[in-house]
Amino acid sequence: MPGIVLIGAQWGDEGKGKATDLIGTKVDYVARFNGGNNAGHSVVVGNESYALHLLPSGIINPNLTPVIGNGVVVDPEVLFEEIDGLEARGIDCSHLKVSEAAHIIAPYHRTLDKVTERFLGKHKIGTTGRGIGPAYADKINRVGIRVHDLFNEKHLHDKVEASLHQKNQMLVKLYNRRPIDVDQTTEELLKLGERLKPYVANTGLILNKALDEGKTVLFEGAQATMLDVDHGTYPFVTSSNPTAGGACTGTGVGPTKITRVIGVSKAYVTRVGEGPFPTELFDESGEWLRQQGHEFGVTTGRPRRCGWFDAVVNRYASQVNGLTDIVLTKLDVLTGLKEIPICVAYDVDGERYDDMPTDQAAFAAAKPIYETMPGWDEDISGCHAFDELPATCQDYVKRLEELSNCRISAIGTGPQRDHIISVHSLID
Ligand code: GDP
Ligand code: IMO
Ligand code: MG
Repeated sequence: MPGIVLIGAQWGDEGKGKATDLIGTKVDYVARFNGGNNAGHSVVVGNESYALHLLPSGIINPNLTPVIGNGVVVDPEVLFEEIDGLEARGIDCSHLKVSEAAHIIAPYHRTLDKVTERFLGKHKIGTTGRGIGPAYADKINRVGIRVHDLFNEKHLHDKVEASLHQKNQMLVKLYNRRPIDVDQTTEELLKLGERLKPYVANTGLILNKALDEGKTVLFEGAQATMLDVDHGTYPFVTSSNPTAGGACTGTGVGPTKITRVIGVSKAYVTRVGEGPFPTELFDESGEWLRQQGHEFGVTTGRPRRCGWFDAVVNRYASQVNGLTDIVLTKLDVLTGLKEIPICVAYDVDGERYDDMPTDQAAFAAAKPIYETMPGWDEDISGCHAFDELPATCQDYVKRLEELSNCRISAIGTGPQRDHIISVHSLID
């Protein structure tokens, strides 16, 4: 032990990459457990900035083993591009371990992601277009291709045939597209398998052994609680379980091995893609947050929707994930505001909700009930202790902590590795 899970507490892009990189200096393994290259995690080290999509953010630390668990959907072409990009910058990726049970994103999944979104029209989800949903749909429909399937030609051909049988009917008859060739797809996947082979391992066994030997494993979540297919704002969600439970199913490690669950939250909220967002700002304050916080997607470059901190979401995240700690990021972005609203509850058709409504129609109708705190003007990026923060800034953090039902153990004051205030250790 210890097994530390780190997840997004809002709608993604909370700064999980930076938090993982920070904790990663003290752990032996960093394992991704969900999602795929729909994630976009930025890590800034000195003058270097890294944008990671599929690789665990811990890969920047040379002393740990990065792992891609069985719960991740792997696009091998993207993986190789990312490895090549990092290796060209002097980051060694040869120690990466990829689960043999992880599902593959094939080119046809990307095609299907795009055509289905187009077909949904005004009902679209606003996906990243990376083939994530179709790859997970195949997994659940039991027609997915797994990493170990790439090493047996006959077996792979059968699987591709089974997977494409129905899809080709759909592509031709419904979407008016050309069918996908089984032989050619099999050949392409076999080639990708050859390059993937050296990284492939029984990652469940490796992680369990490591934990039994007293090593520290950090389970790095992608996406976030409100994008969880079970617990999020369905159907405006991703197709995996980014919540803490996903760390177990997505790596093959039992819940008794998890000792800590860290939620990462911004000091305000952002969202990309479609779906309800009660504290969203459509006025100049929203634009101010977007510019001040550089809120443009790492994966798609889309401008992120911005809004005030939503304590109902954070309380819900504490509950769903069993959070032990919160890392509060981007507090520096709020510097310069006279007053800062915090959403403490919702009003749904005249009824007050202190807790997350389970009915999505109620959530879509939720109007934020705000409480307002005084802001601060001082630059906080040089603060390295909580009591160095301006008094009103300290009060804001304390109020968020109180409303979130979980202690805030670290505070981000800028994008750099050392722009952080540590309040409680995240590791022991
Ligand atoms: P992730 O998807 O959760 O890993 O987050 P992203 O990397 O997509 O977006 C977070 C952005 O905020 C990145 O550009 C980070 O460099 C940046 N960031 C992280 N923490 C802080 C912070 O405390 N202050 C500021 N100003 N930027 C931060
Ligand atoms: P990180 O790890 C923010 C959103 C998409 C879309 C929905 C479904 O950087 O926090 P998908 O392609 O997954 O089927 O799209 O989920 N989404 C994210 N939003 N951050 C992410 O990852 C996201 N990954 C997916 O915008 O609304
Ligand atoms: Mg991101």
